[in-house]
Amino acid sequence: MLAIKTEGLCKDYRLGFWRRRTRVLHALDLTVEAGETFGYLGPNGAGKTTTLKLLLGLVLPSAGRAWLLEQEVGDPEVRAAVGFLPENPSFYDYLTGEEFLAYGARLAGIPRRRAREQIAALLDQVGLMGAGRMQLRKYSKGMLQRIGLAQALLGDPPLVILDEPMSGLDPIGRKEVRDIILRLRAEGRTVFFSSHIIPDVEMICDRVGILLGGRLARVGRLDELLGTEVESVEVTAVGLPEPIVEELGVLALAPPLVQGGRALFRLRGDVEVDKLLRRVLEAGGRIASVTPQKRGLEELFLAEVRAGARR
Ligand SMILES: Nc1ncnc2c1ncn2[C@@H]1O[C@H](COP(=O)(O)OP(=O)(O)OP(=O)(O)O)[C@@H](O)[C@H]1O
Ligand SMILES: [Mg+2]
Repeated sequence: MLAIKTEGLCKDYRLGFWRRRTRVLHALDLTVEAGETFGYLGPNGAGKTTTLKLLLGLVLPSAGRAWLLEQEVGDPEVRAAVGFLPENPSFYDYLTGEEFLAYGARLAGIPRRRAREQIAALLDQVGLMGAGRMQLRKYSKGMLQRIGLAQALLGDPPLVILDEPMSGLDPIGRKEVRDIILRLRAEGRTVFFSSHIIPDVEMICDRVGILLGGRLARVGRLDELLGTEVESVEVTAVGLPEPIVEELGVLALAPPLVQGGRALFRLRGDVEVDKLLRRVLEAGGRIASVTPQKRGLEELFLAEVRAGARR
């Protein structure tokens, strides 16, 4: 079963003083299988929020079509099966957290008793247990983000779409949101979320799409995109005289970083590593560490952004 499918999905906005028609999303073809955790990555202005709004039917496409849970977007039945956390949720300031969730539950058609149980459980899950009776105007940014997430999870939707769920959260909050997403994944639910926090995406996603300037530049499983080859090896040596550091610099991919008697060399492969280690020991130095570096999502992302800028 496909949780999300888009076909040639486009969005044009009229931008600038002349209100010129500008395409901000270019013929997006995307599929997300049920049960997948999909990270939608892109720099500011790439078109992530626009895509999510199109999926939710909050804005209309300029061309193309989209389906959620194999129903065409716009079908009211589908909307109830999808939880959504918007980018800048605007809240009803004078409601308490509990009242806000109760209101959401009513909109979602959840029976009152069931809603009461679920609200208590969700407040606990997002770490707001003590704050349910507090008015939202007194919530911090992170607390608002959490209550928004709880709202998105009301009614146990099989598909959850989150726009920057970690934004505004401190490291602990980010970890809690990652854990919530991992729990949803373990329950077999589909999570589609946008982010520009690369480590968060790298840690929890099955598949990733990289959106650049409204175009899907890369999409695939993380392990396929990143590969498993070692890109380079970092060697840290201690106690090397400066001329030796300079001499060994020619073996490295970049000038060695020297700090507090330690020199860090980034090397291409085994041959260079062997040469360097031998020479360090000969020169009376010590090896502090040898670390193979794999290509991470961050390098891939930055490489794509650079390639996109050249095109
Ligand atoms: N309602 C609108 N009217 C006109 N232009 C818009 C509108 N919404 C978005 N845009 C434009 O569409 C482009 C994509 O915006 P979008 O909000 O989708 O990006 P994003 O990837 O979510 O960025 P961010 O990481 O900053 O949230 C931007 O150039 C933006 O200015
Ligand atoms: Mg956005």
